[in-house]
Amino acid sequence: MAKLKLGVLISGRGSNMQAIIAACAEPAYPAEVALVISNNPDAAGLSHARAAGVATRVIDHRSFADRDEFDAALDAALTEAAVQLVCLAGFMRLLGEGFVGRWRDRLINVHPSLLPAFKGLNVHERVLDTGVRITGCTVHFVRPEMDDGPIITQAAVTVAPDDTPESLAARIRRAEHRIFPQAVRLIAEGRTRLLGERVEIKGLAGPERTLFNPPTDDA
Ligand code: GAR
Repeated sequence: MAKLKLGVLISGRGSNMQAIIAACAEPAYPAEVALVISNNPDAAGLSHARAAGVATRVIDHRSFADRDEFDAALDAALTEAAVQLVCLAGFMRLLGEGFVGRWRDRLINVHPSLLPAFKGLNVHERVLDTGVRITGCTVHFVRPEMDDGPIITQAAVTVAPDDTPESLAARIRRAEHRIFPQAVRLIAEGRTRLLGERVEIKGLAGPERTLFNPPTDDA
């Protein structure tokens, strides 16, 4: 079967992009990266993508008069590359309603919290300040509001007493590298269906799990 063509949008390190590229290297994986776009010419992820033989483009938001023009340039590049699903992988620009509407249900994002908790920036600092014991990450379909939209996959990550924002971010990124390729696979296999603003996943089975933090005496 034809593979789903992905467009991956990045702004920096690109470790989630790398996880997707690595997943796509598996012959049985049902998607392939058609294009990586960065709004930041200095994004470290660009050289990783090039080294992996993936087509890249820099579309620098600073060279456009406004967001609509920037969004139009993104849209044109994605369309030209015949992209079918857009993955926001650490893409730190807000996309306008027009773009989000045009790519509705074909546009997904990874966010380093258990949404709908801790939307926005400086997530890990706020998680630590609040004292929550369990945080995590979410892959979701994008809606015009920031970090909003139907949830596809999530992972729970425990907060350690001595965590710093950096240590927590690193632990969460490792979980993101698992749930982002998983979400892409579910979509590519046609196993996701939107029921209103809730995602139903077909054929999900497996043991029920409960995560305790701190652990209980018997856990
Ligand atoms: C990831 O942790 C991702 O969840 C976050 O940026 C990081 C990018 O890392 N995205 C957001 O905060 C978007 N709201 P990466 O460049 O190494 O993939």
